[in-house]
Amino acid sequence: MGKRISIAIDGPAGAGKSTVAKIVAAKKGYIYLDTGAMYRALTYKAIRDQINVEDEDALFAALMQSSISFKMGENCQEVFLDSENVTDKIRSREINLGVSTIAAHAKVREEMVRLQQEYGKNGGVVMDGRDIGTHVMPNAEVKIYLIASVSERAKRRHEENIQKGFASNLEELEREISARDLYDSTRDVAPLTKAEDAIELDTTSMSLDSVVEAIVKIIDERS
Ligand code: DC
Repeated sequence: MGKRISIAIDGPAGAGKSTVAKIVAAKKGYIYLDTGAMYRALTYKAIRDQINVEDEDALFAALMQSSISFKMGENCQEVFLDSENVTDKIRSREINLGVSTIAAHAKVREEMVRLQQEYGKNGGVVMDGRDIGTHVMPNAEVKIYLIASVSERAKRRHEENIQKGFASNLEELEREISARDLYDSTRDVAPLTKAEDAIELDTTSMSLDSVVEAIVKIIDERS
């Protein structure tokens, strides 16, 4: 077996990053880190504690006073903010609407990146997010940039919501995904961009299995 390398998976909201990253990590016996969940956990705290999502200093202070951690649950990775299990709470519509604003603050990002680099320092990790290949792990041996059409991404989120028993409106999801794409890719700090050396995979008409298979093949070639 080869060495335990670092895998960065980036791309816009709903391209299938976390689903794919989780399976790839399990297949390789690597750690999976959902960096979006970290921004979501801080957003949860801000809303809960009535911190203004525009107040960078207050958000940074809240982050420094928190511990965001991950634990393997029965069938999914659970997310904890201090001792509170926030796994489901961070997927609400309210969080979806606030998280991009919080993720745009430079001081917040700097600390998040530091925490993420700490996780990834020994390799054997699959991280998904927006800036993993460009900022968090610029030296990752494998960088994947996943994309899919807006309508396909909205359809996937819609099906996921229905499966979880959440209320869901397809047209509203399409509008929100487009707005989030625009915001995430035009913000001043670490905007969503494809790393020069990333491999782009358009998953619009690919099955989950074939996406996973393609990525595992690339990992095996480079480890
Ligand atoms: O992947 P997600 O939908 O859980 O991400 C939530 C938000 O966090 C999204 O608006 C983009 C932001 N994010 C980021 O800026 N950088 C990351 N590494 C991960 C997520």
